[in-house]
Amino acid sequence: MAERLGTLVFSSDFDDFATWKNALQAQLPDLQVVHASAIERPEDVRYAMVWKPPAGFFERLLGLQLIINLGAGVDALVARSDLPPGIPITRITDPQMSRMMAGYVLFAVLRHARDIPHFEQAQRRGEWAYRHPRAPDETTVAVLGLGQLGAMAAHEVQRQGFRTLGWSRTLRQIDGVQCFSGMETLDDVLGQADIVVLMLPATPHTHQLLDRNRLMRMRQGAALVNVARGSLVDQAAMVDLLRSGHIGAATLDVFTQEPLPRDDALWSLPNVLVTPHLASVAIPASSAQQIAANIVRVAQGLDPDNRVDAERGY
Ligand SMILES: NC(=O)c1ccc[n+]([C@@H]2O[C@H](COP(=O)([O-])OP(=O)(O)OC[C@H]3O[C@@H](n4cnc5c(N)ncnc54)[C@H](OP(=O)(O)O)[C@@H]3O)[C@@H](O)[C@H]2O)c1
Repeated sequence: MAERLGTLVFSSDFDDFATWKNALQAQLPDLQVVHASAIERPEDVRYAMVWKPPAGFFERLLGLQLIINLGAGVDALVARSDLPPGIPITRITDPQMSRMMAGYVLFAVLRHARDIPHFEQAQRRGEWAYRHPRAPDETTVAVLGLGQLGAMAAHEVQRQGFRTLGWSRTLRQIDGVQCFSGMETLDDVLGQADIVVLMLPATPHTHQLLDRNRLMRMRQGAALVNVARGSLVDQAAMVDLLRSGHIGAATLDVFTQEPLPRDDALWSLPNVLVTPHLASVAIPASSAQQIAANIVRVAQGLDPDNRVDAERGY
């Protein structure tokens, strides 16, 4: 089996090699797993498991059969000019990762729905600033992007009793979620929501999807949650609208430039919570099963599951 499976090379500055190696070898004891810094025989490498590998990384891997993106967002990978043509790309699709994301989204939605930013600011002033709570179904939450992560987040949001809208490219069906699709419905969805949650991939079609005009379509005082990618939003316009109060508050995990520069206005806006891109991460123990299954499929000459459509961008 070792010979049939060949070698997997690992490259990531964000993930722990030893943990991933152990998790993969627990599934496939015969798989050779090597770190990119220690490849001795590049011609034996069949699988590359990567997160933002250095330029030219793929050049020596002439026997490559599968690229595994160590995360859900493939924008950085598919935008590269040095990708070997025709090699299938898969991404992490792991229920635990979706659960972690749904947890963050739920936290952010509840934070806004329960006016927590208002109380945080009042506390700093030493003020007992009572604001009467609304029933969950009086708050409308729109989740833009209903993929592996977005669908679970929308499901969890509606389970809390919020009126939940979902928006995607093709029409999806999620119990309890009113689903919309296509650009022609976007302004309507934005205009209905008290809380807008961005869960779309970064592609040429979603670049600055929420430009100034679309941000203006949001309800006066609505909240924005971005856990997807900074490039989806015109960040300068968002800052202006957060200052004016048109956007009432935001929970932001992603930015056009990361790390967010020290002098960025977002750090000091009182109605913004900044977290450093960690809403969800790939979890070795649970993701390894799906990765191993794909390695076996490829070794058997089959197509891997969850293949990324590089043309489409996700
Ligand atoms: N902050 C973090 O820690 C973190 C962690 C992981 C992932 N992410 C981000 O989260 C994103 C979403 O993840 P996922 O796994 O849910 O993605 P996914 O499974 O690829 O699903 C993408 C969703 O977006 C929709 N979509 C794509 N392009 C669209 C367009 N032009 N107009 C309308 N809808 C469009 C898709 O529509 P269809 O259903 O019609 O295909 C699908 O519902 C990732 O791409 C990544 O950037 C962030």
